Amino acid sequence: MKTVLSGIQPSGRPHLGNYFGAIRQHIALQDGGHACFFFIADYHALTTSRDPAKLREAVRDVAITYLALGLDPKRVALFRQSDVKAVTEISWLLACVTGMGLLERAHSYKDKLAHGVKPSVGLFTYPILMAADILAYDSDLVPVGKDQIQHVEMAQDMAGSFNAAFGEVFRRPEPFVPSAEKLAKVPGLDGEKMSKTYGNDVWIFESGKKLKSAVGKIATDSRAPEEPKEPDEMLLFSFLELFTDAATLEQWKARVRAGGEGAPGYGHIKAAIIEGMEAYFAPARARREELLNDPAEVDRILARGAETACARAALVRDRALAACGLR
Ligand code: ADP
Ligand code: TRP
Repeated sequence: MKTVLSGIQPSGRPHLGNYFGAIRQHIALQDGGHACFFFIADYHALTTSRDPAKLREAVRDVAITYLALGLDPKRVALFRQSDVKAVTEISWLLACVTGMGLLERAHSYKDKLAHGVKPSVGLFTYPILMAADILAYDSDLVPVGKDQIQHVEMAQDMAGSFNAAFGEVFRRPEPFVPSAEKLAKVPGLDGEKMSKTYGNDVWIFESGKKLKSAVGKIATDSRAPEEPKEPDEMLLFSFLELFTDAATLEQWKARVRAGGEGAPGYGHIKAAIIEGMEAYFAPARARREELLNDPAEVDRILARGAETACARAALVRDRALAACGLR
């Protein structure tokens, strides 16, 4: 049995790109017969957060979102990073075998500086805490987006340095990036990649008037409904296909290609997108409402997850402390 671990940043409301590009694949891993550990990276969030209420809210929102979308807390340990004290202890042990040069080469650190983030020591040592997250559970596979692969490789380096100095303590993790064909690249309302940064995103639980207004913004042109068109070149179809089964999608495409009297106009297709999206996320939305009304249940789930995580991480920490002469 492999151990799968990933951390999720509590950074605002997830959009369709996050769901189809990442969250869905994360949750699917629970069906693979692995031991799964998913945590909310609240210590990492503190490298930039200065608003306690917002951070607290964002952490809860991640937990509720994953649970609503189908994460099964009986099969996955879902917990807060800051609940596992052994991780911060291990991060010190790793810091002592990590060269400054390794951290200086981190793309994401350089990137954040370029975007005007003030360089705190925490931001600089972010990869050490992340390596501790990974190594604390004897993780085999770490599902991450492309931007995080370098951090997993740094965890491999740190495990290697510690093991070279003190013997085989840490298991070598591998980054796990779902294969390209399984990865949906979801475009935003303007046709560029959907991203919070570009403001072209749609929250997965958006509904009612706000959803209507968002979908209304999907870029189209001024061709008349009767004019035959190629649906694969239309941004509207990149949205419709997310929520429509293959047979129904083909029918829509055929009508658009044929043009003429019976062809759907853009408004028509937009209405189908709204209906499709609302139906697609309806069970998750209902589950989300339940969880919003039952904060004690969310607390219980996070506490149980933390218990499982702490037990595993304490073993690894003790092994590491013994190896380097601290016990
Ligand atoms: P954003 O660009 O909105 O800030 P993040 O960089 O936080 O999103 O992405 C979180 C995860 O969601 C990553 O694993 C990334 O691969 C995935 N993701 C983000 N946007 C998209 C998109 N438009 N299509 C597919 N996957 C995406
Ligand atoms: N740095 C990751 C991100 O920004 C979140 C994260 C923290 C993480 N610790 C981790 C991911 C450990 C995987 C494994 O998305």
